[in-house]
Amino acid sequence: MTQIAVLPGDGIGPEITAQAARVLSAVAPDLTLVEAPVGGAAYDLHGHPLPPETLALAQNSAAILFGAVGDWKYDQLERALRPEQAILGLRKAMGLFANLRPAILYPQLAEASSLKPEVVSGLDILIVRELTGDIYFGQPRGVRTVEEGPFAGDRQGFDTMLYAETEIRRIARIAFEAAQKRNKKLCSVDKANVLETSQLWRDVIIEVAKDYPDVELSHMYVDNAAMQLVRAPKEFDVIVTGNIFGDILSDEAAMLTGSIGMLPSASLNESNQGLYEPSHGSAPDIAGQNKANPLATILSAAMLLRYSLGRENEAQRIEQAVAAVLEQGLRTADIQSEGTQLVGTSEMGDAVLRALG
Ligand code: IPM
Ligand code: MG
Repeated sequence: MTQIAVLPGDGIGPEITAQAARVLSAVAPDLTLVEAPVGGAAYDLHGHPLPPETLALAQNSAAILFGAVGDWKYDQLERALRPEQAILGLRKAMGLFANLRPAILYPQLAEASSLKPEVVSGLDILIVRELTGDIYFGQPRGVRTVEEGPFAGDRQGFDTMLYAETEIRRIARIAFEAAQKRNKKLCSVDKANVLETSQLWRDVIIEVAKDYPDVELSHMYVDNAAMQLVRAPKEFDVIVTGNIFGDILSDEAAMLTGSIGMLPSASLNESNQGLYEPSHGSAPDIAGQNKANPLATILSAAMLLRYSLGRENEAQRIEQAVAAVLEQGLRTADIQSEGTQLVGTSEMGDAVLRALG
């Protein structure tokens, strides 16, 4: 029995995961889907965003289908109890260090981008983001009182950027291997002109590159990368970067496509156990209104089949069905344009199920 944990979360999470779960069960009826609360929903029920039962279910499953977490109503809680801690806790506890975030422009949605069509048409980039290290998890961190100098007596916030070479090496291998399967171009993004952590990052990437002579490696500072992503995004194939730079650049890359509601993601550990979630957030403003686009989550289910279960055929069946519904002109509000037909979350799910054939 292959068990999949389904963690819907907050906001639009329950609506979009419901549609993705229907599609997943339709192409792979042998899978056992088990649902558990996470994020604010789990806090409301059990007083913690990642209750031990939810973590145990995730750890004992082949993969996790994740919706989204977060809602303004939890902003006043202490950090350890906020919904975001659920996703950070799952990443850390399960060692999900490799985050794959594709940014693909669907030809049917070309006019959804805010950039000129010639800049983005055919865009297909993959961001490989390290997910369990860096300033996100580095110790020490906190708020202390400054002892001396011009700011003596002030409260001072501090975090620590850290990378061990093993962490850099393993994410580098994932990225080089991904590049080998694509256009064999890898751009490593860092801030080596300023940060020690980044200089080590760059040195280790160069060492690992010796094992992948067929991949053309380049390096870019993160500020320049942010600029090049809007200037000439098609110059990129695979980008590899650390946790915080990847957080920022992946949102930028997603927006290039104009349809963040379409983009799935995968977070994998050493044993290919993975967490699959849409790249977008919980959108509490439209929650419960049958407005959200379920396609990113449905496409995340396809990534789940591909990366954690090795079931490429079923993954492609889902991806082809999504392309077919776009071709039919069906659109949720976020990707609607003239001459297309507006549908809700569940109708989009119905359409994908029909298109599976
Ligand atoms: C993401 C999100 C998370 C992150 C938040 C919700 C903690 O922005 O997955 O990109 O910063 O990693
Ligand atoms: Mg982010």
